[in-house]
Amino acid sequence: MKERLTVPEEEMLRQREFMKLVKAMEHRPQTYHIVSMGCQMNERDSESIAGMLTEMGLAHQPVREQADLILYNTCCVRENAENKALGNVIWLKELKKTKPELMICVGGCMTQEKGMAAMMKKRYPFIDLIYGTHNLYRLPEYVWRVLTERRPVVEVMDIDGEVVEGLPEVRKSKFMGFVNIMYGCDNFCTYCIVPHVRGRERSRTPEAVIEECVRLQDQGAQEIMLLGQNVNSYRGGGAEFAELLYRIDRLGIPRIRFMTSHPKDLSDELIQAFGELKHLMPQLHLPVQAGSDEVLRRMNRRYTRAHYLELVRKLRGVCPDIGLTSDLIVGFPGETLEQFEETMRLVREVRFDAAYTFIFSPRKGTRAAEFPDETPEAVKSERIQRLIDLQQAIALEVLEQQVGRVETVLVESVSTRDSGSVGGKTPRGHMVNFPGDSRLIGQFVDVEITSAGRNTLRGRRIGG
Ligand code: SAM
Ligand code: SF4
Ligand code: F3S
Repeated sequence: MKERLTVPEEEMLRQREFMKLVKAMEHRPQTYHIVSMGCQMNERDSESIAGMLTEMGLAHQPVREQADLILYNTCCVRENAENKALGNVIWLKELKKTKPELMICVGGCMTQEKGMAAMMKKRYPFIDLIYGTHNLYRLPEYVWRVLTERRPVVEVMDIDGEVVEGLPEVRKSKFMGFVNIMYGCDNFCTYCIVPHVRGRERSRTPEAVIEECVRLQDQGAQEIMLLGQNVNSYRGGGAEFAELLYRIDRLGIPRIRFMTSHPKDLSDELIQAFGELKHLMPQLHLPVQAGSDEVLRRMNRRYTRAHYLELVRKLRGVCPDIGLTSDLIVGFPGETLEQFEETMRLVREVRFDAAYTFIFSPRKGTRAAEFPDETPEAVKSERIQRLIDLQQAIALEVLEQQVGRVETVLVESVSTRDSGSVGGKTPRGHMVNFPGDSRLIGQFVDVEITSAGRNTLRGRRIGG
C-alpha cells in the first residue's frame, strides 16, 4: 500500500473560500438535489457533497425536477449501473430545455472511467460539470467556475492516493452513521472496475477515524458502519483493522458494523473480535463470489473454497449466531455447469442469511472482460434464477428460526408497505416490522418475533 497523503490544509482552505464566493453570488442555484447510485461509499460521499453545497448556500430540494442544481453521484460496477446513470443524464437534457438555468453535475465512479468524461463532454454538452472520484473535494471551485465562466467544466484527475479530511457534511441519519476507514482497492479481482476508478488503497489514521466516531456519538449516533472496499487491509499508521475495532468498541457506541471484508485477509484476531467485543454486531458481509476453486483462481480472489469454509467454521465457533451475507457472481467467463453447481453446493453448506447475486458484467479495462465467454446469456439467466430460488428458500428458513425470539431492534423508519408500522434491524441485521409510529425512530425497542416473511420479520413490541 502506498504512503498515505492527506490533501494539504491550504487546499482545503482554498475550497472553503470558493464556498464563500459561491454563497455570496447573486445569481447562483438556490437548491440542490443529489442522486446517489451504487454502494455505501457513494452514499457517504454524497453526504460530503451535500455538506459542501449547503456551505455554498444551497438548500436541499427533495423533488428532483424542482432543484436548481442536480448532481448525479454515479456507479459503474456493472453495465446496468452505468446504463441507468447515462439514461438519467439524457433525461436531464429534456428538463434543461424547460429550465435553462438548471445546473447539471455528474461525478463519481462512472465519470472516473477511462475515456468516459471525454465521451460525455462530446455527447452530452448540456452537462455543466463532470468530475471524478479523486477530486470530489474541489467541487466548490468547479461550481464557482461553472457560474463565472458560464461554460461546461470537465475535470477528472488521474492521480489518486490522497486522503481528504475535514469536508463539511450533511448526514442522512442522526443515529446511524457511515465512517470511511480506507479508500480504494489493490486487489484487482479480474472482473472488478473498482480499483480502476477508486484508486490504490489508502487508510485514514486511527485518530481521524476515532475523532469522527466520537463526533457522531456526541451527535447521537447509536450505530456506526465502518466502510472500506476491503477493511481487512486497513493499515492506519501501522494499526491493523482488528486493533482499530477494539479501540472503537471502547467508545461505547451501542452498535458497530463494518463492510466489506475480503476472505483472503480475514485475520484470526478479527474473528476473535466477534466473540469478544461488546458492541460489534454479530453480522458479517463476506463475499465469496464463487464456489469453485478454478473460478476463484481466474477471478484472482486468492483464496480457496476450503479456506472460505474454514473461515465460516471459525466465525461460527466464536459467535454461533453470526449472520453471514455474501455476494455471488454467476456466469463468470468459462464457468461450466459443474463449477456453477459448486457455488450452489457452497450456498447450501454455508446457509447465508442473504446473498446479492449478479450475472457477470464485462467491464472495459478489466482482465476478465478479455476472457473468452461462451456461455449463452439464457443459460446464465437460468443459473442465476436457480441460485436466487435456493438462496431465498434458505433465507426464509433462517428467518423462520428467529420466530419466538425477543430481539432488540434499532428503529430506522416508518414502514412504507405496512401502515402503522415501523422497521428496524436486529443485532444480526434482520429487518423487523412491528406496530409503532415515527416517535420510535432512532430508539432501541425489544420486539418479540411473531412471523417470518420473504425478506423481513414481523413482531410485536414488548414491555413498551
Ligand atoms: N469490495 C467488495 C468485495 O470485495 O467484495 C465489494 C465490491 S463491489 C462494489 C460489490 C460486488 O459487486 C462484488 O462483491 C461483486 O460480487 C460484484 N461485482 C463487481 N464487479 C462485477 C462485475 N463485473 N460483474 C458482476 N458483478 C460484479
Ligand atoms: Fe473489487 Fe475485488 Fe476490490 Fe472488492 S476486493 S473492490 S471485488 S477488486
Ligand atoms: Fe461503489 Fe459502484 Fe463505485 S459499487 S465504489 S459506486 S463503482
